[in-house]
Amino acid sequence: MTRWNEEKCRALIEETCAKGQPLTAALRALVDAFGYIDDAALAPLMQGFARSRAEVRSAIAYYDDFSMRPPGRHSIRLCQAEACQAAGARALTAHACAKTGLQPGQTSADGALTLHNVYCLGLCTHGPAALIDGKPVAELDEDKLDAHLAGLEP
Ligand code: FES
Repeated sequence: MTRWNEEKCRALIEETCAKGQPLTAALRALVDAFGYIDDAALAPLMQGFARSRAEVRSAIAYYDDFSMRPPGRHSIRLCQAEACQAAGARALTAHACAKTGLQPGQTSADGALTLHNVYCLGLCTHGPAALIDGKPVAELDEDKLDAHLAGLEP
């Protein structure tokens, strides 16, 4: 991930438009590049995809993976899909929220951690599953989660 850069933002949007890809592909490219979608991207997104500001904002808000706020230095993405729910994901998420003081989608005030929901990581038979700093973790429980949280560098 790199720091927000208006020139690169415009280039990514132009590249997506040139390929005939949808707005969500441009949003994905921006999040992959910068970790979030800066306010400054709204105008070129509106122009490139002939959408209103409300339509672009709605697309961003619809997907848990897109955010208009910079992410924390660390991320925990807890799976909320059915198989993980059956394995205790809801209770684990409640534990994560209590332990971090964050709700899914929020970043800690010091910018250290962002908590996310995610829907299926392909580890359905080994839930609850999560991505911790992008690495898949299976059969997560409260003790393992606490150990991961304690091991995150500030
Ligand atoms: S349901 Fe959680 S990994 Fe598939």
